[in-house]
Amino acid sequence: MNILILGSGGREHSLAWACLQNPKCDKLIVAPGNAGIDMIADCATLDINDGSAVLGLAEAEAIDLVIIGPEAPLAAGVADALRAGGFAVFGPNQAAAELEASKRFTKEVCDAAGAPTAGWARFDQAQAAKDHVRTAGAPIVVKADGLAAGKGVVVAMTEQEALAAIDDMFGGAFGAAGAEVVIEEFMEGEEASFFVLCDGEVALPVGTAQDHKRVGEGDTGPNTGGMGAYSPAPVLTQALQDQVMAQIIHPTLKEMTKRGAPYQGVLYAGLMIKNGQARLVEYNVRFGDPECQVLMMRLGAQALDLMQAVAEGRLSEARVNWADDHAMTVVMAAKGYPGNYDKGSVINGLEDTAEDAFHMVFHAGTTEAGGKITATGGRVLNVTARGATLKEARDRAYGEVEKIDWAQGFSRTDIGWRAL
Ligand code: AMP
Ligand code: GLY
Repeated sequence: MNILILGSGGREHSLAWACLQNPKCDKLIVAPGNAGIDMIADCATLDINDGSAVLGLAEAEAIDLVIIGPEAPLAAGVADALRAGGFAVFGPNQAAAELEASKRFTKEVCDAAGAPTAGWARFDQAQAAKDHVRTAGAPIVVKADGLAAGKGVVVAMTEQEALAAIDDMFGGAFGAAGAEVVIEEFMEGEEASFFVLCDGEVALPVGTAQDHKRVGEGDTGPNTGGMGAYSPAPVLTQALQDQVMAQIIHPTLKEMTKRGAPYQGVLYAGLMIKNGQARLVEYNVRFGDPECQVLMMRLGAQALDLMQAVAEGRLSEARVNWADDHAMTVVMAAKGYPGNYDKGSVINGLEDTAEDAFHMVFHAGTTEAGGKITATGGRVLNVTARGATLKEARDRAYGEVEKIDWAQGFSRTDIGWRAL
């Protein structure tokens, strides 16, 4: 079959890598891709948020399955355009992508579904939002309603921070995404990610993971898109997964269908776990990045069969074959990230790293020129490995990190510390 993947990060590199393990995959195009993806697939230049442009490419290349990696094309309705054109798509329609594109929408769905989540209120005026913060007190969480590239959430430990966040959001720091603000009760606990495939009717859990959002050792310093991840997440026991399916996932999917927006794709539930109970922090309508990299490392070729079953509405026939294994990914980022960093530094040593069923360096922000790989982003490489234990996966991943010669890059040395 001919497959088109949309996106350009480590997530999409890992999706491409997994698809290529499967003998079903005849042709693989990734738009726009990156230097690492270009080594294993054809890259196409395209505005992936433009439904008619993506539809045109899918038609020209006789694509059988389109896998949409990031949230922006989903929120822009690219899946709708492709489905209307008769293509099989992995990823929700625009109306279902509201589960990520609007915090208020998610909260309303949770309330209607009776799914446990933090208490909340919404505001479209700064004054009323501030009054609410002064009454409720800190810690408290202030969120821009819309998509803000992962930066629209302020976990305020003091009232002052919360008030400043409200001023920022209504002042336009996140553009239209901040025209409405959701203020939430602060939840304590341990966070974990739970991934569930849904084909509009059937839901199938496809793995758990934990990531490290803070830039510094010991989970300190500013928030990032994720400095590393591992799967499975020990905190998400089978009993807890069953609880989450019964109390959060199934009721949400039922509510989405009731609203005329059945969910098709992967639903990524960010959970907060305390005293053996899970509450929803947020939904994303795509795989996490870098969580996808560890899930793909563990699933391998069957990931394509599963995504195809979702896109074709055949998930009831599908099964996940789990090996009793663990995977870890270590993010190598440009020095300065998540603040200012230089672009264009050369990365050496990649040719010495192992590429097999147990090791893979996924590229997140790279380009190739004159035979040299250079860094073009903040998060640049995802050094990923699998093992029989998390410790083995960790040792393998850090063994590969050692081989990469990139003076302008850095990585955390303690990914997985909580679980190890
Ligand atoms: P979100 O984009 O909604 O996942 O928020 C980003 C991060 O902020 C989450 O991963 C949590 O670490 C934190 N966060 C969001 N909402 C809450 C909450 N209600 N209580 C505590 N932490 C939260
Ligand atoms: N790693 C967090 C995310 O993909 O949203």
